Amino acid sequence: MEQRRILVGVTGGIAAYKAPELVRALRRAGHAVRCVMTPEATSFVTPLVLQTLTGAPVTTDVLDPSQEGEIDHIALADWAELLVVAPATANTLARLANGLADEPVSTVALATRAPLLVAPAMNVNMWQHPATQRNVATLKERGVRVVGPDVGELACGWEGEGRMSDPAEIAAVAELALGSRSLQSEVVLVTAGGTREPVDAVRYLGNRSSGKMGFAVAEEAARRGAEVVLVTAPTGLATPAGVRRVDVESATEMRDAVLVEFDKASIVIKSAAVADFRPVAPSARKLKKEDLPEGAGLTLELERNPDILAELCRRKDDRTIVGFAAESHDVVAAAQRKLERKGCDLMVANDISRAGTGFDVDHNTVVFIWPGGEIEELPTLPKAEVAAQLLDRVEKLRGGTK
Ligand code: CTP
Repeated sequence: MEQRRILVGVTGGIAAYKAPELVRALRRAGHAVRCVMTPEATSFVTPLVLQTLTGAPVTTDVLDPSQEGEIDHIALADWAELLVVAPATANTLARLANGLADEPVSTVALATRAPLLVAPAMNVNMWQHPATQRNVATLKERGVRVVGPDVGELACGWEGEGRMSDPAEIAAVAELALGSRSLQSEVVLVTAGGTREPVDAVRYLGNRSSGKMGFAVAEEAARRGAEVVLVTAPTGLATPAGVRRVDVESATEMRDAVLVEFDKASIVIKSAAVADFRPVAPSARKLKKEDLPEGAGLTLELERNPDILAELCRRKDDRTIVGFAAESHDVVAAAQRKLERKGCDLMVANDISRAGTGFDVDHNTVVFIWPGGEIEELPTLPKAEVAAQLLDRVEKLRGGTK
């Protein structure tokens, strides 16, 4: 199996005595493992045990100059491809849910952009407490994976939910969370966001695209090992781990940036909402009402923007190119016409008239439209899952072309 970099965070509960077993399971699977511990955890398992099993120094204090000199906590957070917190105490879940950074494990959890897997372990009443349940729900909403806790006899003498899952099971879920490296040899160019077409020094014509779909695709492609470049119009979103980001504003800027990256790309996913028209003569100064006759309206003259997707498809060679079609009516037929007109390998259509899916939300309801006329309707899914489904299809297409 391929070696991945896994950081194990150990926090202060009795289940910490199983942390060495988890480390061994991950090492046996061929991974590089490092450990970070809370001060409380060191009362249950010694750093020396984990250091011996990982063959690497263990971080227990981010303020200790000798430890920070070995590998500082930010470098450790950057090093990780996955952070597994096992056991995760009730206190740790609260820290993680609230973004505290007052001990080494929650500090690296805040600093890392790697996915997070937690294995809760605690007394059954602490687990069932509404505060803990709310913290777990918050973490899940954020995409954190939670494994366990299992039901059984607890170290505190109670019976019930609260046992940390078996190390072998945590290791298996860790493999899933790491994802495959199935796009390792690909260079993926993703566009995202809604372009802004300048009207004057302060105003622009824009659209409601949030960029979330494109960012989700970029994140998933990077997780699958691709080299990813994300050309994005303005969004409020953080750059996904391992993705190179190029910021643009207008459609013409996006076209220029995309053409620079296109030569190297083997896969292109065009999820940006590109404005079709731009003002012919944007004003370098702010347009003032006082410059117009009293009560007069304003007419903007617009000209066509280049169709970036159509242009890329004309130079496709053996690249795989996916377009998006945001439609408000007659969705499938309109997207099929768009696919033919532009000449891409797959069109992802979404119905923007549906509430709660499409623009600026976390879910999407899409239909995959294939050149032969075949269509695949997906249920409403989180955008991260739509991205995964889309890249599964792209991988199949690549399998046929390589
Ligand atoms: N697109 C593009 N350049 C444009 C317009 C659109 O590259 N100037 C791309 C989008 O990134 C998307 C696909 O084309 O992948 C479809 O975009 P959409 O706005 O739905 O379609 P349009 O071609 O603009 O057609 P219409 O506005 O008539 O629906």
